[in-house]
Amino acid sequence: MAAHYRSGFGLPQEAIFDTARTDRLYTNRWFFAGTRGDVAAKRDWFRFRVLDEELFLLHGSDGVIRCFVNRCAHQSARLVHGDHGTTSARMVCPNHSWSYSITTGTLEAAAMMGPGFMDTEVAKCSQLTEVPCREVAGMVFATLGEESVLDDLDQVEAILAPYTDPFALDQGGYRLAHHHREVVPANWLMVMINNRECCHCQQNHKGLVELFDPSSFNGARSDSYDALVQRGVERWEAAGRAWSEDAFETHDAVRVARYPLREGWKSITFDGQAACTRLIGGWEDHDASTLSMWFNPNAWIHFTSDHIGTNWVLPIDSGSCVLYSSWIVRDDAIEGVDYDLDHLTEVWKVTNAEDVGLCKSMTDGARSRFYQPGPFGDDEQFCRQFCDWFMRSSNAPG
Ligand code: FES
Ligand SMILES: [Fe+2]
Repeated sequence: MAAHYRSGFGLPQEAIFDTARTDRLYTNRWFFAGTRGDVAAKRDWFRFRVLDEELFLLHGSDGVIRCFVNRCAHQSARLVHGDHGTTSARMVCPNHSWSYSITTGTLEAAAMMGPGFMDTEVAKCSQLTEVPCREVAGMVFATLGEESVLDDLDQVEAILAPYTDPFALDQGGYRLAHHHREVVPANWLMVMINNRECCHCQQNHKGLVELFDPSSFNGARSDSYDALVQRGVERWEAAGRAWSEDAFETHDAVRVARYPLREGWKSITFDGQAACTRLIGGWEDHDASTLSMWFNPNAWIHFTSDHIGTNWVLPIDSGSCVLYSSWIVRDDAIEGVDYDLDHLTEVWKVTNAEDVGLCKSMTDGARSRFYQPGPFGDDEQFCRQFCDWFMRSSNAPG
């Protein structure tokens, strides 16, 4: 039965905890699954989970990133374990050593099956299951469903191109400095709703708010903030950088904007110092800004002039999810020389940890028999957008 939903209010309880609805969403829509920086070199893989499905991105020897189900066609053992790694020239199952092509997923050897097996129809049908996967400006999107029924990533690519082209993440030249993932004891929708507003930031992210002018937070416009933005705009336009906000207007699954960091700040760091000495995105000097993108259903990404910080969430069940975070740097950046790993990673590690507690608490409250969807304020407009989009995108057909 369709849950009753009223736009401008939180989600109905039955929709929040309905994993079949969430499953439909991840079947009907593209979701963020990582970046080229997470599988920067050929043969690199990156494992993740969506509900009961375990998948992995694989950077093929032909340079294409594909997404496969983490299941051997023999006795269904997992092919990869751990968060990420590098495969040999073939993907070899650790159970009985069936081995697969890392470009096509076809079975290439199964010695224990005896002579002649590889010529059989059964062998030809025994391959890795690939799910639709597309790269947009170096960001990778996948879906559990059929590509043909999904909305248009070409449009997303066209919207993002003026902002992301200078970074050329899709051309390579980057590497994964660090990846962190955490099982969050909260419903994934609570993580997303929390992410879509900053009204909780002053109260809960004492470190993060130091990176921005106090007036940059919701509803707190000031002359000094307008002047900060204006100085940024002059700098960005002189450098030929797109900056204006496109907030879910031309495409309902993406919001993009460039925001000024606090005056003199060099990157997303607590002390305002550079996160990495190696610049990216064609910048000739550190710029006090972040090019930020928010994707429905599950990601928020920040490109600065010296690294890319990515955060995305994927559901496990109605009460838990995994929060994935990666830090991508130029491929010639050397740890301990060009960046300090703790310094590079601490803003999102600290900020995400602060949000985990809030999201767990929201999940616990939403389980109450007395639960009622609460109203969103004007500064929570992106929560309303997310909830509208989620309900529309996850309805059962008919
Ligand atoms: S389960 Fe993979 S080779 Fe047997
Ligand atoms: Fe937060």
